[in-house]
Amino acid sequence: MFDVVSIGSITRDAFFDASSFPLVSDPNTPSREGFLLPLGDKLDIADVYFTIGGNAANASVTFSRQKWYAACVGKIGNDVAGEEVVRRLKKERVATKFLPVSETLPTAYSVLLMRNGERTILGYHGASNEFSMNDLRLKKLRAKWWYVSLSGESEKMYKPLIAYAKKEEIAVAVNPSGYQLMHRRNEILKSLKDISLLVLNEEEAALLTGIPFSREREVFQKLDALTSPGILAVTNGAKGVTVSDGHRVYRAGTFREKKLVDRTGAGDAFGSGFVAGLLRAKITKKNIRTASEAHINEAIRLASANATSVVEHRGATEGILTRKEADAPRFRRLTVAVQAV
Ligand SMILES: Nc1ncnc2c1ncn2[C@@H]1O[C@H](COP(=O)(O)OP(=O)(O)OP(=O)(O)O)[C@@H](O)[C@H]1O
Ligand SMILES: [Mg+2]
Repeated sequence: MFDVVSIGSITRDAFFDASSFPLVSDPNTPSREGFLLPLGDKLDIADVYFTIGGNAANASVTFSRQKWYAACVGKIGNDVAGEEVVRRLKKERVATKFLPVSETLPTAYSVLLMRNGERTILGYHGASNEFSMNDLRLKKLRAKWWYVSLSGESEKMYKPLIAYAKKEEIAVAVNPSGYQLMHRRNEILKSLKDISLLVLNEEEAALLTGIPFSREREVFQKLDALTSPGILAVTNGAKGVTVSDGHRVYRAGTFREKKLVDRTGAGDAFGSGFVAGLLRAKITKKNIRTASEAHINEAIRLASANATSVVEHRGATEGILTRKEADAPRFRRLTVAVQAV
């Protein structure tokens, strides 16, 4: 049996250095800026870098580097990109035996236009869009934990996956996509009682609850009531994270990065690092209620360390920490303020 199976998207990622692209101000983007790309003309790229990404691939690399028996499950295409992704996962000692291959659609592909650690992602879902329950041999995927993060149309698998995990007493960590939050909000809300860890960023938490995050207390109250006995983590980029286990609220900043290179994969590194921390404490579905303050502090530490290291590297998996790196002096101490609810 696996320790953790990551289920979701797997992509081929191409990073383009877009630091020479002209910028225009645009109040509708998160950074309030946009690239101005001349239609009908050429722009030179000074540097390109190819790697792997996708929530399932990223998370599975964390689990494997943290010395857990990890499998990655997501649909790829019958193409060179798919072969390369499998080769890289194998190199990471991630089990790829149960990876379905599409005969019709190519492997998901993302182009990331990079500028000063910020990026625009052009994402093509490809094979990961037709990933469905028919592609899974569920019995083979039994594990202590599942890390579920479904992109595009594969969100249809969400309900049956949660039902199976409940039946088999598999602890489930969920990081829903923006698409899933918009299309299947009620389905996610109803599933929270069967989830052991829900990881969201602030915008996603507001979207899921329908409450603006400026009313943070209400957001947590609503989610806590539905998630019990699970754990809830709401991230806020470089500002850090707020976690609730229903009894206590934990607030932490981040380990300061040496240099912000590329924030792609921060969310996955955090979520998977958190699960790796809970695994260390031997927390499973059955004993989730026994997760102590020390256990949660350790999960926050490991998650934050992993995310900081990832944003210091280009690509979503390059900076993922090994067990030894995660326990190095640099990442030993993170101040967490704990408050009883
Ligand atoms: N610049 C940073 N420096 C240090 N830590 C960071 C930085 N950005 C993110 N983190 C860590 O990663 C966690 C998750 O980041 P964030 O809130 O950006 O997730 P996200 O919005 O889900 O990102 P993603 O785009 O990867 O899905 C944060 O709570 C923090 O601990
Ligand atoms: Mg995210």
